[in-house]
Amino acid sequence: MSTSQNYLCLKNGTVINADSEQQTDVLIQGRKIVQVEPNLTPPSHARVVDCTGKLIFPGMIDPHTHMGIPIKNGWSADDFESGTRAALKAGVTTILDFTILEPGQSLSESIVVRRKLAEKSHTSVGFHCNITRFEKSLLDEIPELIKQGIMSFKVFTTYEEAGMYLTYKQIKKVARVIAKHGGLLMVHAEDNDIIKAATAKYAGRNLIEPRYHALARPPEAELVAIQKLGEIHRQTGCPIYIVHLNTVSGLNAAKAAGLLVETCPQYLFFNDSVYEQPDGRMYVISPPLRKSEDQKALWAGLLNGQINTIGTDHCPFRLSDKPDGLSYEQIPNGMGGIETAFPIMLAEWLKAKWPLPRLVQLMSTHAARIFGLYPQKGVIQAGSDADVVIVDPNLKEVLTPDDLGDRDAWNGYLGLEAVWPG
Ligand code: URP
Ligand code: ZN
Ligand code: ZN
Repeated sequence: MSTSQNYLCLKNGTVINADSEQQTDVLIQGRKIVQVEPNLTPPSHARVVDCTGKLIFPGMIDPHTHMGIPIKNGWSADDFESGTRAALKAGVTTILDFTILEPGQSLSESIVVRRKLAEKSHTSVGFHCNITRFEKSLLDEIPELIKQGIMSFKVFTTYEEAGMYLTYKQIKKVARVIAKHGGLLMVHAEDNDIIKAATAKYAGRNLIEPRYHALARPPEAELVAIQKLGEIHRQTGCPIYIVHLNTVSGLNAAKAAGLLVETCPQYLFFNDSVYEQPDGRMYVISPPLRKSEDQKALWAGLLNGQINTIGTDHCPFRLSDKPDGLSYEQIPNGMGGIETAFPIMLAEWLKAKWPLPRLVQLMSTHAARIFGLYPQKGVIQAGSDADVVIVDPNLKEVLTPDDLGDRDAWNGYLGLEAVWPG
């Protein structure tokens, strides 16, 4: 071993992988883990860090972020630089964001543009490819993109007004191509017709109470979309991943149909009662927050294996982006959370004494496996990237604005307990 090599030895911590908890040492050389073994003897020039009493996790992977995207005349408040800086502090070492398909653009052009914007990131970044128009030429690009390593494609069963909607018939055609070439289809699953019918009841009345947002996007919209997607999965064999799942009925339908499921911290920690708070407009997100029964089912789903991943759907806004007095239809949809997701989930997990490997599955390993990053990411083992998160489990704090740094994005989780890496 040459002295020019950069070694770091983490001594005596407890390594939490998806299938084990083990008191061991971890030897890192440069950007790779080279050895995981108890009582290993590091090279004499290695930097040694005593991790006694500390937990060592593989870096968290957030499979659902929206850094710097246009929404309703504005932009989400984090770009790749600020969002990944906040993510890294909270234990996230990889994000998977989405391309934006501009009019006239090809899928490959849309990927080049987002990759360029992501160059200033502090974490690893991968992309899912949005297909927000149905055109043969776009479908023709899919096989080559999968060969190049872009294997996940996302469609929307709603957002017609934003020009992102595909019909189920079109989605089935996309699914057939993806299935044939070994990719994965991600879906924002809210039925467009149900939303249109519900929205019509409240449209044009300048209703400013955020509760109307939830009423205009009822839970049946998720259920019906998932039932239709289950049918598409059955007919095409295409693996389908439902993003930001939020209802008990949707969860049961997705599992009965063999679909992969992601939920988000906002659907676990909050329900639609927040829409009655003075800052209720800040929680206007799509799909909306639901009932406490839905929350309970989602927490149970984390533990019983129904839910595969936790993503944040990070799409923050500033208080000034959602001023008081906007009608519910004008409020930009979305909220942030990548900067606090792992610390608050870990605090909850430690309080309940749930098995930590399960949290690693949900926030790291499953995303790595589903999106083709494993075993480079999602595990602490020899040969994997040195994405490690060290945590003192006894350092529990209540979240305050100081934890958010210099970013001006609003965060809805202040006051909750958090256990921070570091
Ligand atoms: O309200 C949300 N979730 N905004 C981001 C876009 C999306 O649908 O995920
Ligand atoms: Zn969505
Ligand atoms: Zn999203």
